[in-house]
Amino acid sequence: MTRFPAGVLAGRARRVEEIGDDIVKLVDVMVDIMLENKGIGLAAPQAGVDLRLFVISLDGSREGVQVFINPEIEVSGDIDSVEEGCLSLPGVYGKIKRYTLCKVTATALDGKEFCDVAEGLYARALQHEYDHLEGTLIKDKFGRLQMIGARKHLKKLLDESE
Ligand code: NI
Repeated sequence: MTRFPAGVLAGRARRVEEIGDDIVKLVDVMVDIMLENKGIGLAAPQAGVDLRLFVISLDGSREGVQVFINPEIEVSGDIDSVEEGCLSLPGVYGKIKRYTLCKVTATALDGKEFCDVAEGLYARALQHEYDHLEGTLIKDKFGRLQMIGARKHLKKLLDESE
């Protein structure tokens, strides 16, 4: 599990050009990390790899895992504000504004392109994971008061990285 302030979490991830054995293995590792840490989503940069790919399992089960390679999202609807955490920012939580609807187009592990329409938690998870591919963490979306609240945990993560 890659944690803040690792550089791979702050950069824009690269496109996956070919779905080979290395990608299949990476997805395996990512799913294990996500399930072990009781997450519902994990992006490749969180496994230390700067590729545009993430996994989501809304019910936290292995059967429920969906893989999104080179995803594109299109948001719409209203904006709501819900508390989020991130496995790369342990101890840090805050309300994040996101769109309530999200359309996603991506490639599955079998190489086939698919499209899905999401709302609620699913739409939120897609936007959170997509942010990871752009190098954006929830703390980057915090307001000033939220940053004050998170400062202690962020400082701890910075200290641990030295
Ligand atoms: Ni996250």
